[in-house]
Amino acid sequence: MNMAGKLMKAVWYDSYGGGSAGLKHVEIPIPSPGVNEILLKIEAASINPIDWKIQKGMVRPFLPKKFPVIPAGDVAGEIVEVGSGVKKFKAGDKIVSTLGTAGGGFAEYAVAKENLTVSRPPEVSAADGASLVIAGCTALHALTVTGGINLVKTQPRLNILVTAASGGVGHYAVQLAKLGNTHVTATCGARNIEFVNSLGADEVLDYKTPEGSSLKSPSGQKYDLVIHCTTGIPWSTFEPNLSPNGKVIDLTPSGGAFWTYAVKKITFSKKQLQPLLVVPKAEEIECLLNYVKEGKLKTVIDSRYPLSRAEEAWEKSIEGHATGKVVVEP
Ligand SMILES: NC(=O)c1ccc[n+]([C@@H]2O[C@H](COP(=O)([O-])OP(=O)(O)OC[C@H]3O[C@@H](n4cnc5c(N)ncnc54)[C@H](OP(=O)(O)O)[C@@H]3O)[C@@H](O)[C@H]2O)c1
Repeated sequence: MNMAGKLMKAVWYDSYGGGSAGLKHVEIPIPSPGVNEILLKIEAASINPIDWKIQKGMVRPFLPKKFPVIPAGDVAGEIVEVGSGVKKFKAGDKIVSTLGTAGGGFAEYAVAKENLTVSRPPEVSAADGASLVIAGCTALHALTVTGGINLVKTQPRLNILVTAASGGVGHYAVQLAKLGNTHVTATCGARNIEFVNSLGADEVLDYKTPEGSSLKSPSGQKYDLVIHCTTGIPWSTFEPNLSPNGKVIDLTPSGGAFWTYAVKKITFSKKQLQPLLVVPKAEEIECLLNYVKEGKLKTVIDSRYPLSRAEEAWEKSIEGHATGKVVVEP
């Protein structure tokens, strides 16, 4: 179907700052797919903190590359048109895709790259699929590639701590970690303890209690790996809770974290802090979709909003208290 010349609804911001008040509803031409690109009718887009951190100017001068920005890079939907050279897909295919930090998800249509697009099995809803991209790939990459955990084969049992286990990344990290031979300790707020237990965590700490803020395992485990999904916890809190070769993977590293990383490297410390930035890959999205299809992984959606109320979704994510993912649906 040729959509050239037609208009679509979209939501964008055209300067730094402003939060949800900075979002504007616009009608703009539907984009056209170029070589090796597809045009997608969006069914769901999920929000990640990076989306509003870009608006806040927290990754200036690197992002955004230009204004205006249509936020959200994690999308799922149906292909309506393919550009020349596209071999894997045709119109009508249901897919999940990453549009990257350029975004484009707060719209009725978006152009995606063929090599960053994956077929979506009928068992996975658009909202569940879109939710998986950054949050799921980050959890998977941190555990397997950076953390070295094998989620398929047996290995000596490893003790893992997941901080902010009720959030987008954390709720996937707990479930994925439990696919391996692991004991998982998790932190979250009191209202989410039952929820995080239901994801498979072996023990859960309320982060607002003294025990929770000390990160001490109630059963005395020392952590081999920490998937650190929140901020504001110093190395001195992690250090006494780590096993001799324990590693903290910091997903939101501050300047202090980079300093600790460097010091640990230079001094050949066995306990390590590893800052990590994950860029989703098609193979990882595919792996996660398969886990969902096989019933090994689920997406938990905090809330879903129509595109006409994208500001509320934006606000919800900025507040930082979502349980699972926040989704926008055109
Ligand atoms: N490096 C990367 O590649 C990468 C990729 C994805 C995300 N990230 C970063 O990772 C962080 C988490 O992302 P996300 O999408 O999971 O965020 P999110 O979904 O917005 O996280 C919200 C959750 O965190 C919980 N929480 C907040 N502070 C906590 C604390 N001190 N202890 C325990 N739980 C706490 C909240 O619980 P309450 O409501 O009870 O407070 C809420 O359920 C963000 O900073 C994000 O930018 C990095």
